[in-house]
Amino acid sequence: MANPICFWSICIIILCTLSNKHSPLALTLTPVIRTPNLPVCAPSTVPATALPDDFLTCSQKVAENRNKTHPDIGKRTDEIITYYGYSSEIYNVTTFDGYILTIFRIPGSPKSPPAQGKPAVYLNHGITQNSDNWLLAYRDRNLAFKLADAGYDVWLSNCRGNSYSLGHETLNSETDSEYWDFSWHEMGVGDVPAAVDKIISVSGNEKILYVGYSMGCTQYFVGLSEIPSLNDKLKAAVLLAPPAYMGHATNPIRLVGAATVVGGQNIVGPLIGQRVDEPTKFQEYFNVSLGNFCTPTAARCGVCDNFGYLVFGFDAPQTNYTNVPNILSKIDNASLKTAAHYAQSINNCWFRQYDYGPTKNVARYGTVVPPSYNLTAITVPTHFIHGEADNFVVPNDVQITRDHMRPGVVKEVIKVDWSLFNHVDFVNAKDADTLVYNKVLQILNNNINTP
Ligand SMILES: *[C@@H]1O[C@H](CO)[C@@H](O)[C@H](O)[C@H]1NC(C)=O
Ligand SMILES: *[C@@H]1O[C@H](CO)[C@@H](O)[C@H](O)[C@H]1NC(C)=O
Ligand SMILES: *[C@@H]1O[C@H](CO)[C@@H](O)[C@H](O)[C@H]1NC(C)=O
Ligand SMILES: *[C@@H]1O[C@H](CO)[C@@H](O)[C@H](O)[C@H]1NC(C)=O
Ligand SMILES: *[C@@H]1O[C@H](CO)[C@@H](O)[C@H](O)[C@H]1NC(C)=O
Ligand SMILES: *[C@@H]1O[C@H](CO)[C@@H](O)[C@H](O)[C@H]1NC(C)=O
Repeated sequence: MANPICFWSICIIILCTLSNKHSPLALTLTPVIRTPNLPVCAPSTVPATALPDDFLTCSQKVAENRNKTHPDIGKRTDEIITYYGYSSEIYNVTTFDGYILTIFRIPGSPKSPPAQGKPAVYLNHGITQNSDNWLLAYRDRNLAFKLADAGYDVWLSNCRGNSYSLGHETLNSETDSEYWDFSWHEMGVGDVPAAVDKIISVSGNEKILYVGYSMGCTQYFVGLSEIPSLNDKLKAAVLLAPPAYMGHATNPIRLVGAATVVGGQNIVGPLIGQRVDEPTKFQEYFNVSLGNFCTPTAARCGVCDNFGYLVFGFDAPQTNYTNVPNILSKIDNASLKTAAHYAQSINNCWFRQYDYGPTKNVARYGTVVPPSYNLTAITVPTHFIHGEADNFVVPNDVQITRDHMRPGVVKEVIKVDWSLFNHVDFVNAKDADTLVYNKVLQILNNNINTP
């Protein structure tokens, strides 16, 4: 099955590798033509990996477990927190542009009761996620509970558009499409500063710690570069799978690029203001075939009905099958524009504001090409952790992002010690605890006293 898609001067042939047992993790994207004067915007080569046997029996295991119940299904974040014996508080914050966001706080745990003066840490989630996704690993093996056990004051945010943060001062998320006219740009300049100020004022901390995952990292890059004063409110940050420069991504969201800006015409423009809540919406809005969209392993394992596995892949050996129904139940809505902005980043190789096409760009930004984010404005000590098999935030691009930052600001770039570690493994992997969270805890511990 071959499906050629051409845009600008780059042609890409997508070779679907479904039939090959020992196929690479994701689509093989082969650059065919490249114009020398454009930045290199070609997918990385995905090394062929001999997949463990787990990938061959995964569909049976998924099917066996799909209908099982799980205590966390149908519970809200605060209910999950209290179910496991942790303390929970709920706060609302309003952004400068009127969005009302809900933030959950875990001020204490059975091992570390609530107390004044704990170091506060802000956990910011990824696309189509919400605060529940920090709690997917069982009991104290998830990052939020581990941090609470270790004496941190833990704050779990919810970005505009997810099911906890649908409020707005004047817009109705059900009836006003204007509500959904935002991407991670607006979350970076709106949601992040609102949450940071709330956490500082309630916790009494002068500065707080930041942990972002995926889109939570993109928002960090946007917020801190657009609003320099935010740099004075954070001690340090740990960014898990940080998307900024994305030109080498092999993720199938690359295909959506053709629909976002082609020949200066923004095809999804008239659709801005829609939300994406399920894979079929992707098909509908972006006119892409889900057959090409679903990664081969996710297709083989029968989990293409879940957005996360559909586009980011399925890591069978790191899957706790009894937890799959819980993971599947926690997918949330996102705005179409958020996905489109990522598709643009993948296709233009640059980290810049939303591209509306030349005419609208001039009206809005005063320039034909949207303004870029200036990452050298970021001064907070920042640590990157990324996965080798991440098709969205590929190792090449992680280095490129680091190289765009002020020298010395990125303290370390850590690759997770598991060769199949993919984008969603940061919250889904059964060993995320030992592979990632212990490292996060150690970095935060080292930065508690950062001035
Ligand atoms: C799971 O439930 C669905 C409908 O609720 C049913 O059709 C299917 O056979 C069940 N699968 C198993 C393995 O029990
Ligand atoms: C937060 O705002 C929502 C509306 O967006 C409201 O339903 C809820 O009661 C508020 N919660 C608190 C704790 O103020
Ligand atoms: C959708 O894509 C197909 C080819 O994949 C094309 O023939 C058709 O015109 C497209 N539809 C729209 C509305 O762009
Ligand atoms: C797998 O998930 C189930 C359900 O959440 C949990 O009881 C079990 O402890 C988990 N196993 C591992 C190894 O995380
Ligand atoms: C996502 O939005 C749809 C409406 O488009 C709604 O029916 C659904 O409940 C929402 N999903 C979640 C998880 O809130
Ligand atoms: C980027 O930010 C740095 C530090 O704030 C500043 O010195 C530099 O002039 C900015 N670069 C651009 C292109 O705006």
